[in-house]
Amino acid sequence: MKKIIIANWKCNPSTIQEAKKLYKGIKKAAIKTKKTEVLIAAPFIWLPLLKNVKKCAQNCFWEEKGPYTGEIGPKMLKDVGIDYVIIGHSERRDKFNETDEMINKKIKAALNAGLTVILCIGENKGENAQEVIRRQLKEDLKDIENCKLKIENLIIAYEPVWAISTNGGEICSPEHAKDILGFIKQKFVGKIIYGGSVNNEIINNYLNVGYEGVLVGGASLIADEFVNLINNVEN
Ligand code: 13P
Repeated sequence: MKKIIIANWKCNPSTIQEAKKLYKGIKKAAIKTKKTEVLIAAPFIWLPLLKNVKKCAQNCFWEEKGPYTGEIGPKMLKDVGIDYVIIGHSERRDKFNETDEMINKKIKAALNAGLTVILCIGENKGENAQEVIRRQLKEDLKDIENCKLKIENLIIAYEPVWAISTNGGEICSPEHAKDILGFIKQKFVGKIIYGGSVNNEIINNYLNVGYEGVLVGGASLIADEFVNLINNVEN
């Protein structure tokens, strides 16, 4: 089965010239893959710059349309050729107060619009990982069986919040990552990927314990680093 590498650009870069340059630097490697599926999760406004690669949004709203200033509905994404969306990233949970209930509504709307959802879950520093993940999976995925859902439409990304580079970037041990993978697998049958300070040096720690891909923040903003990462998985 193909491994997935998702570049999460977050709110970067800040100019169109830089966005084009970054894309130019990774495009060739991202398009010509055989064993890897590469997705680029760019800010909404930069997504149309990405030609010939799989485009991923970083968020979407739970309503299709209406009086919701500033929001973007899942059907709009699908309509312009964006097939993937990240939902429930810890930065949205922590900085924009997204609750499990809101995340659940977004997932259902995105699935019904035909998008593939990458649901991010993971504990904060000091929290009991299994307790947090048990709650997030239960509440975020509540009633999704009633959606237009195929199992390949849902990917779980385990991202321990304390391992994200901008939160201190403590390296998650392969043992912890493996334990949590086993725990998630008891509740979810489908693709599970890992995120948190992933770079070329440590990516194999997570792929070797059974993750089917990675969600990459900081290292996806450095073209050469990201290309190396793709080549590493390809070869
Ligand atoms: P870093 O790779 O910068 O730690 O970011 C991880 C992340 O949040 C990806 O969604």
